[in-house]
Amino acid sequence: MPIIQYPCYKSMDEFIDTKQLKAIDQEVTQFIESYLMTEQANTRHFETGEITQFPWQSKVTKSYVVQLTRHATEYDYLDINKPELWNLTKYAKQVPLLMAFIRTLPFEKTARIMIIFDKGGHGVTAHRDHSFQDLCHEFIWFRTNFNKRFYVYHNKQKQYIESYSAWFDTVNQLHGSDPAQTLNFSIRVDGIFNAEMQKKIPFPAINPASRSAYWACRNTP
Ligand SMILES: [Fe+2]
Repeated sequence: MPIIQYPCYKSMDEFIDTKQLKAIDQEVTQFIESYLMTEQANTRHFETGEITQFPWQSKVTKSYVVQLTRHATEYDYLDINKPELWNLTKYAKQVPLLMAFIRTLPFEKTARIMIIFDKGGHGVTAHRDHSFQDLCHEFIWFRTNFNKRFYVYHNKQKQYIESYSAWFDTVNQLHGSDPAQTLNFSIRVDGIFNAEMQKKIPFPAINPASRSAYWACRNTP
């Protein structure tokens, strides 16, 4: 849609309890520190989506991912928004405040939930998650502090995310993070927004994957 100017993102801070979010910073930080000490062998490197920034960089990053829900059968990226296919992992029990916060988010149901973290010193290659313009994943990306230098990117323009939370177009622009000098992390929750939320979000006439960008650029609450 012509109204959309990439790079862009929709802050979700107005729809979440940022006070509660900030209060779980210590729990998540301590969980990651403990996870690194006890689960190093299981720690999985975070892999980006199919298209990375030119010149093409590694899809396997030096950052890590912890799944708080796991796919019940054989993983397919297109399933990340299908609640019936995702079950809580043992790690979810170790972050009760985070899980309680996630239950307050404006979802009808949640599906994939993951923490992406870096010990410091590594960025995440700018990438898009998939290439299907007719597929729009509903999710909330958030963080409990501003250590992570996360951005959306398009045509050599980089827009850093300045809010605690965001929903962004993962198809028609790239996203990634710059290296930070300290432990940094974000959480992404995919699912289906609840009816109240759906009513607030306009639909673009074309390119459904751009719904969050269309909303951001229309600047409608
Ligand atoms: Fe991504």
